[in-house]
Amino acid sequence: MPTKTVLTYGTFDMFHIGHLELLKRLKGLGTKLIVAVSTDEFNEIKGKKTIIPYAQRASIVEAIKYVDMVIPENNWEQKVSDVEKYGVDVFAIGDDWEGKFDFLKEQCEVVYLTRTSGISSTDLKEQLEKISKINLNDINTAFEILQQLKSDFE
Ligand code: CTP
Repeated sequence: MPTKTVLTYGTFDMFHIGHLELLKRLKGLGTKLIVAVSTDEFNEIKGKKTIIPYAQRASIVEAIKYVDMVIPENNWEQKVSDVEKYGVDVFAIGDDWEGKFDFLKEQCEVVYLTRTSGISSTDLKEQLEKISKINLNDINTAFEILQQLKSDFE
Protein backbone atom coordinates (compact mmCIF):
# COMPACT_ATOMS: atom_id res chain seq x y z
CA MET A 1 0.00 0.00 0.00
CA PRO A 2 1.48 3.41 -0.90
CA THR A 3 2.20 5.83 1.94
CA LYS A 4 -0.45 8.50 2.52
CA THR A 5 1.00 11.17 4.79
CA VAL A 6 -1.20 13.25 7.09
CA LEU A 7 0.06 16.40 8.82
CA THR A 8 -1.46 18.36 11.71
CA TYR A 9 -0.46 21.19 14.07
CA GLY A 10 -1.33 21.90 17.68
CA THR A 11 -0.24 22.75 21.21
CA PHE A 12 -1.53 19.61 22.98
CA ASP A 13 -1.19 21.11 26.48
CA MET A 14 -2.55 18.92 29.31
CA PHE A 15 -3.21 16.06 26.83
CA HIS A 16 -6.90 15.08 26.97
CA ILE A 17 -9.50 12.87 25.28
CA GLY A 18 -10.25 15.50 22.59
CA HIS A 19 -6.61 15.33 21.52
CA LEU A 20 -6.61 11.51 21.52
CA GLU A 21 -9.83 11.30 19.49
CA LEU A 22 -8.44 13.80 16.98
CA LEU A 23 -5.16 11.91 16.53
CA LYS A 24 -7.07 8.64 16.07
CA ARG A 25 -9.25 10.16 13.34
CA LEU A 26 -6.25 11.84 11.71
CA LYS A 27 -4.43 8.51 11.42
CA GLY A 28 -7.57 7.10 9.82
CA LEU A 29 -7.13 9.60 6.97
CA GLY A 30 -3.84 8.03 5.84
CA THR A 31 -0.99 5.67 6.68
CA LYS A 32 1.55 8.03 8.27
CA LEU A 33 0.72 10.77 10.79
CA ILE A 34 3.08 13.69 11.43
CA VAL A 35 2.22 16.01 14.31
CA ALA A 36 3.80 19.45 14.57
CA VAL A 37 3.70 20.43 18.26
CA SER A 38 3.88 24.16 19.01
CA THR A 39 7.03 25.16 20.89
CA ASP A 40 6.81 27.24 24.06
CA GLU A 41 8.29 30.21 22.19
CA PHE A 42 5.66 29.96 19.43
CA ASN A 43 2.86 29.63 21.99
CA GLU A 44 4.06 32.88 23.54
CA ILE A 45 3.78 34.54 20.13
CA LYS A 46 0.22 33.10 19.85
CA GLY A 47 -0.55 34.48 23.32
CA LYS A 48 -1.03 30.96 24.72
CA LYS A 49 0.36 30.13 28.16
CA THR A 50 1.08 26.41 28.49
CA ILE A 51 1.38 24.42 31.71
CA ILE A 52 3.36 21.51 30.24
CA PRO A 53 6.71 22.39 28.58
CA TYR A 54 7.34 21.59 24.90
CA ALA A 55 9.68 18.60 25.46
CA GLN A 56 7.03 16.86 27.59
CA ARG A 57 4.12 17.71 25.25
CA ALA A 58 6.15 16.40 22.30
CA SER A 59 7.08 13.17 24.19
CA ILE A 60 3.45 12.49 25.12
CA VAL A 61 2.21 13.03 21.54
CA GLU A 62 5.07 10.90 20.17
CA ALA A 63 4.06 8.01 22.47
CA ILE A 64 0.52 7.88 21.07
CA LYS A 65 0.17 4.81 18.85
CA TYR A 66 -1.47 6.76 16.01
CA VAL A 67 1.49 9.16 15.74
CA ASP A 68 4.48 8.28 13.55
CA MET A 69 6.54 11.45 13.86
CA VAL A 70 6.64 14.68 15.86
CA ILE A 71 8.20 17.90 14.60
CA PRO A 72 8.32 21.33 16.27
CA GLU A 73 5.96 24.09 15.15
CA ASN A 74 8.01 27.28 15.38
CA ASN A 75 6.00 29.79 13.33
CA TRP A 76 2.88 30.37 11.22
CA GLU A 77 4.78 30.27 7.93
CA GLN A 78 6.31 26.78 8.03
CA LYS A 79 3.20 24.91 6.80
CA VAL A 80 3.88 25.42 3.10
CA SER A 81 7.48 24.18 3.39
CA ASP A 82 6.53 21.31 5.75
CA VAL A 83 3.92 20.01 3.27
CA GLU A 84 6.60 20.08 0.58
CA LYS A 85 9.42 18.67 2.76
CA TYR A 86 7.44 15.71 4.16
CA GLY A 87 5.50 14.91 0.97
CA VAL A 88 2.18 15.53 2.74
CA ASP A 89 -1.00 14.24 1.08
CA VAL A 90 -3.52 15.49 3.66
CA PHE A 91 -3.35 18.51 5.96
CA ALA A 92 -5.98 18.11 8.68
CA ILE A 93 -6.88 19.95 11.89
CA GLY A 94 -9.87 20.55 14.19
CA ASP A 95 -12.74 22.65 12.86
CA ASP A 96 -11.95 25.53 15.23
CA TRP A 97 -9.60 26.37 12.32
CA GLU A 98 -12.27 25.92 9.59
CA GLY A 99 -11.22 27.73 6.41
CA LYS A 100 -8.02 29.16 7.91
CA PHE A 101 -5.64 26.90 6.00
CA ASP A 102 -7.46 26.62 2.67
CA PHE A 103 -4.41 28.15 0.97
CA LEU A 104 -2.76 24.71 1.38
CA LYS A 105 -5.33 23.25 -1.06
CA GLU A 106 -2.89 24.21 -3.83
CA GLN A 107 -0.47 21.63 -2.41
CA CYS A 108 -2.57 18.88 -0.80
CA GLU A 109 -5.99 17.86 0.48
CA VAL A 110 -7.21 20.01 3.39
CA VAL A 111 -9.61 18.53 5.97
CA TYR A 112 -11.25 20.11 9.04
CA LEU A 113 -12.43 17.58 11.64
CA THR A 114 -15.22 18.13 14.15
CA ARG A 115 -13.86 18.79 17.63
CA THR A 116 -14.78 16.55 20.54
CA SER A 117 -17.33 18.54 22.50
CA GLY A 118 -17.05 19.55 26.14
CA ILE A 119 -13.30 19.51 26.64
CA SER A 120 -10.31 21.74 25.94
CA SER A 121 -6.97 22.62 27.53
CA THR A 122 -8.44 26.03 28.36
CA ASP A 123 -11.37 24.39 30.24
CA LEU A 124 -8.97 22.16 32.18
CA LYS A 125 -6.83 25.16 33.18
CA GLU A 126 -9.95 27.05 34.31
CA GLN A 127 -11.07 24.07 36.39
CA LEU A 128 -7.61 23.83 38.00
CA GLU A 129 -7.74 27.53 38.83
CA LYS A 130 -11.15 27.07 40.47
CA ILE A 131 -9.85 24.14 42.56
CA SER A 132 -6.83 26.10 43.76
CA LYS A 133 -9.09 29.04 44.66
CA ILE A 134 -11.37 26.67 46.66
CA ASN A 135 -8.30 25.29 48.50
CA LEU A 136 -7.13 28.79 49.29
CA ASN A 137 -10.58 29.65 50.68
CA ASP A 138 -10.49 26.48 52.84
CA ILE A 139 -7.06 27.42 54.19
CA ASN A 140 -8.26 30.95 54.96
CA THR A 141 -11.35 29.63 56.76
CA ALA A 142 -9.25 27.17 58.82
CA PHE A 143 -6.88 30.01 59.70
CA GLU A 144 -9.77 32.23 60.85
CA ILE A 145 -11.18 29.38 63.03
CA LEU A 146 -7.75 28.86 64.60
CA GLN A 147 -7.38 32.60 65.25
CA GLN A 148 -10.82 32.62 66.92
CA LEU A 149 -9.97 29.59 69.09
CA LYS A 150 -6.69 31.20 70.10
CA SER A 151 -8.41 34.43 71.15
CA ASP A 152 -11.13 32.45 73.01
CA PHE A 153 -8.43 30.81 75.13
CA GLU A 154 -6.49 34.01 75.82
N1 CTP B 1 -9.18 19.35 19.50
C1 CTP B 1 -10.32 18.55 19.29
N2 CTP B 1 -11.26 18.45 20.28
C2 CTP B 1 -11.11 19.12 21.45
C3 CTP B 1 -9.96 19.91 21.68
C4 CTP B 1 -9.01 20.01 20.67
O1 CTP B 1 -10.48 17.94 18.24
N3 CTP B 1 -12.04 19.01 22.37
C5 CTP B 1 -8.21 19.48 18.43
C6 CTP B 1 -8.04 20.90 17.94
O2 CTP B 1 -9.07 21.23 17.03
C7 CTP B 1 -6.66 20.85 17.30
C8 CTP B 1 -5.92 19.82 18.20
O3 CTP B 1 -6.92 19.12 18.93
O4 CTP B 1 -6.74 20.34 15.99
C9 CTP B 1 -4.95 20.48 19.13
O5 CTP B 1 -5.66 21.51 19.76
P1 CTP B 1 -5.16 22.37 20.97
O6 CTP B 1 -5.38 23.80 20.67
O7 CTP B 1 -3.82 21.95 21.40
O8 CTP B 1 -6.20 21.86 22.10
P2 CTP B 1 -7.33 22.64 22.86
O9 CTP B 1 -7.83 21.72 23.93
O10 CTP B 1 -8.34 23.19 21.90
O11 CTP B 1 -6.50 23.82 23.54
P3 CTP B 1 -6.93 25.33 23.86
O12 CTP B 1 -8.09 25.28 24.80
O13 CTP B 1 -5.68 25.92 24.47
O14 CTP B 1 -7.28 25.97 22.53
